[in-house]
Amino acid sequence: MNMKYRVLVIDDNRSIHEDFKKILAPEDAGSDELDALGADLFEEEAEVAVQFGAEFEIDTASQGRDGMEMAKKAMEEGNPYALAFVDMRMPPGWDGLETIHAIWQFEAEIHTVICTAHSDHSWHDITEKLGTNDRLLVIKKPFDAVEVIQCAHAMCEKWRLQRSLKERMDQLEVDVAQRTAHLVEAKEHLEKEIEERARMEIELRHAQKLESVGQLAAGVAHEINTPIQFIGDSVNFLKEGFEDAMNLIATYQGAMNDWEHGKPHSELKGKLDEAVEDADIEYVQENAPPAFDRTLEGVRRVAKIVRAMKEFAHPDTGGQQPANLNQAIETTLEVARSEYKLVADVETDLGELPDVTCQLGDINQVVLNLVVNATHAIADNQKDGERGRIRVATRLLNPETVEIQVEDSGGGIPEHVRGKIFDPFFTTKEVGRGTGQGLAISHSVVVEKHQGSLRFDTEVGKGTTFFIQLPVAGVFADASGGEAGVEVA
Ligand SMILES: Nc1ncnc2c1ncn2[C@@H]1O[C@H](COP(=O)(O)OP(=O)(O)O)[C@@H](O)[C@H]1O
Ligand SMILES: [Mg+2]
Repeated sequence: MNMKYRVLVIDDNRSIHEDFKKILAPEDAGSDELDALGADLFEEEAEVAVQFGAEFEIDTASQGRDGMEMAKKAMEEGNPYALAFVDMRMPPGWDGLETIHAIWQFEAEIHTVICTAHSDHSWHDITEKLGTNDRLLVIKKPFDAVEVIQCAHAMCEKWRLQRSLKERMDQLEVDVAQRTAHLVEAKEHLEKEIEERARMEIELRHAQKLESVGQLAAGVAHEINTPIQFIGDSVNFLKEGFEDAMNLIATYQGAMNDWEHGKPHSELKGKLDEAVEDADIEYVQENAPPAFDRTLEGVRRVAKIVRAMKEFAHPDTGGQQPANLNQAIETTLEVARSEYKLVADVETDLGELPDVTCQLGDINQVVLNLVVNATHAIADNQKDGERGRIRVATRLLNPETVEIQVEDSGGGIPEHVRGKIFDPFFTTKEVGRGTGQGLAISHSVVVEKHQGSLRFDTEVGKGTTFFIQLPVAGVFADASGGEAGVEVA
């Protein structure tokens, strides 16, 4: 390593400048002068050319202020001094302490050696002025050449190491800042992805809801069709009966008129008896009231289906709202009737429940998914057209938790399938009948969104029961959308 260190000597005695040059940079010192000046300072001859591998370049100043200016310039030029030897007494200007203090104001790295001949400043004075500092060394005159060389090497080497350490630290800081920036970027990326996923999940849930509403629509149309049919028949019958009655009245009015004009009674009576017989008025009298009842019943039935459909499909706006779960379950069963009515009888056992704070539209969807799955399981397991059984029960498990059970008498869930049923898109059904999303979405709704639990018991050949548990108090995580909640009729 052949490093050339810059060394600044600040001393009011010019001959000392030369002595330093002679010792630290022998080839720089003018040999004539050297002889003439002799070794003012050093005890030993100055030719102790001990080489440590480093070389020094010596600059000199006679006054503290000049030295300070040189240090400043060197620093500004990007070629700073490693070390300054500073004399303690330099009349008429600054003394050594003032000089070093001034230099340290702008140059924090330079190492300094104070050369003092007298005990003019105690160590106490020095540290009071400059603080304790590993860049400051005090040596007493007279000192020998070897001492100066060792001292210069040691201090310059330390200066170099501290600088490279600082460079390394600076680089490290840059590296860390870069890494931090990368991490921040990655974090933001992840956050975006999470946000995107959450959004997609909502969309998926929404899509599944629409899909099941679409699937149900055909069944619901059929459900509505039956009462509409008998409303139509009844109204037709009533219309005809009404026409007959009107005709009869017209005949009576005609007869009254004829009677006033003197038509014989016997003739009129025959005509009227005939008209009564034609109108079959007894039949109308007998059958009109039940026809009215059937019509009203049909209208009620249609209204109920429409209301259930409306309640079921009501979009969830905002956050969770207290809701009557039992009523919601009745609604859902009404909507799903066309799905299960051909294969199973549904029985409910709805216990007394407090209002449960939840996103009711989502819970409706979960119950629907379970009921449709139960229906499919029963249909797939049906022997000789035997009807299956679905039982939906609710109960207050403890003051904080409600439980919904959906039990079916289907074929059960085979063991090798049990671990997968909650996986998105896992299905054992043919295309068009299942998409494998029902239980995945139900799980996300119950467990993630409502912090409840969803599990099942199953026995192959006997049936399956799903258990939903929900906290009565709901989850306050999304308190943001508290205003317009789910309509609870
Ligand atoms: N009640 C049940 N009885 C038997 N198997 C069921 C029942 N519920 C769900 N499964 C099984 O879990 C699978 C996944 O259900 P799900 O996520 O609702 O999707 P899909 O009904 O569209 O297949 C079903 O394909 C079926 O194999
Ligand atoms: Mg399903």
